[in-house]
Amino acid sequence: MENEKKVLLSGIQPSGELHLGNYLGAIKNWADLSQDFDCYWFMADLHTITVRQVPAELRRRTLTQIATYIACGLDPERNTIFVQSHIPAHAQLGWVLQCYTMFGELSRMTQFKDKSAKHADNINAGLFTYPSLMAADILLYQPDYVPVGADQKQHVEICRDIANRFNGIYGEVFKVPEPYIPKAGARVRSLNQPDTKMSKSLPEGCVFLLEKPEDIMRKFKRAVTDSDRENPVRYDLENKPGVANLMQIYSAVTGKTFETIEREFAGQGYGAFKPAVGEAVIETLRPIREETERLLADKGYLESVYRAGAERAGKIAWRTLSKVYKKVGFLAP
Ligand code: TYM
Repeated sequence: MENEKKVLLSGIQPSGELHLGNYLGAIKNWADLSQDFDCYWFMADLHTITVRQVPAELRRRTLTQIATYIACGLDPERNTIFVQSHIPAHAQLGWVLQCYTMFGELSRMTQFKDKSAKHADNINAGLFTYPSLMAADILLYQPDYVPVGADQKQHVEICRDIANRFNGIYGEVFKVPEPYIPKAGARVRSLNQPDTKMSKSLPEGCVFLLEKPEDIMRKFKRAVTDSDRENPVRYDLENKPGVANLMQIYSAVTGKTFETIEREFAGQGYGAFKPAVGEAVIETLRPIREETERLLADKGYLESVYRAGAERAGKIAWRTLSKVYKKVGFLAP
């Protein structure tokens, strides 16, 4: 029965163009899982303004992100796709949960430390309390699992701590969700700086989902490997992080194991391997780019998708928020 399905929820900030890390760490798995779960996927636009945004760009990217979710295989008939800022309950529960989140725990968050180092002139309160809002995003929908890349695991864990703390005081209000991290692609690294994660802030090492094939190929050909004289394609994360990263990407898009890949490129070296990975990625992304472009030409359809999503999501969110308001002692309106 529909309501017995387990619930999944996740979101991405439309703060930059979507990239291969977002796809392999998150969206690809959402699409794989969406057959068997009751799914909520959203554009985390409230979160983006913790860093300054250009308003028109933010709007454009939010709409493009909706189109890309659908193009990646998230069927709006079977998945609830919505925009975070369209559901006031996120901000409302976010406030409540800030009062159940400790200063000390927020101070330990890696993303906060990274972003405050990067944006030293704008270390605002929202950047600091970001995890409380993220906990609200999640707990409103009572999901069983939150499928994210490895870098978001810490945020799902603080969400669990907040939920347990709240439940400890008021009884079982929230389901305590588990992070769901994919086996392949959980931590895609920058192509030209394989010691850091792939992110939009390092564009030369970052493959964007809607990028032109020739640009993608150029980035793969320039990918940093190592100076091992024989150029063997061998999985060794510690000593050959660049090659390991390319192998992970190749494995994630083709489904091949590391052993198969090593055999496939035995005796061939990086000169053959790098463009082969580029080609596999280009072929994976081609239909996604084409379908995204097609969908973007039909704004009316995209609007109907996010309106229907907001209506479905809003009902569930309101149910949880009302329960919370009652528990903490707010007078019913
Ligand atoms: P965000 O927007 O930075 O990233 C979105 C998703 O992409 C994954 N990801 C990666 N995976 C593998 N390799 C990479 N290089 C890589 N870069 C990004 C992230 O792990 C994530 O799954 N706080 C969240 C957004 C958010 C959210 C939520 C997520 C807000 N509320 C509620 C889940 C549930 C964020 O900043 O992700």
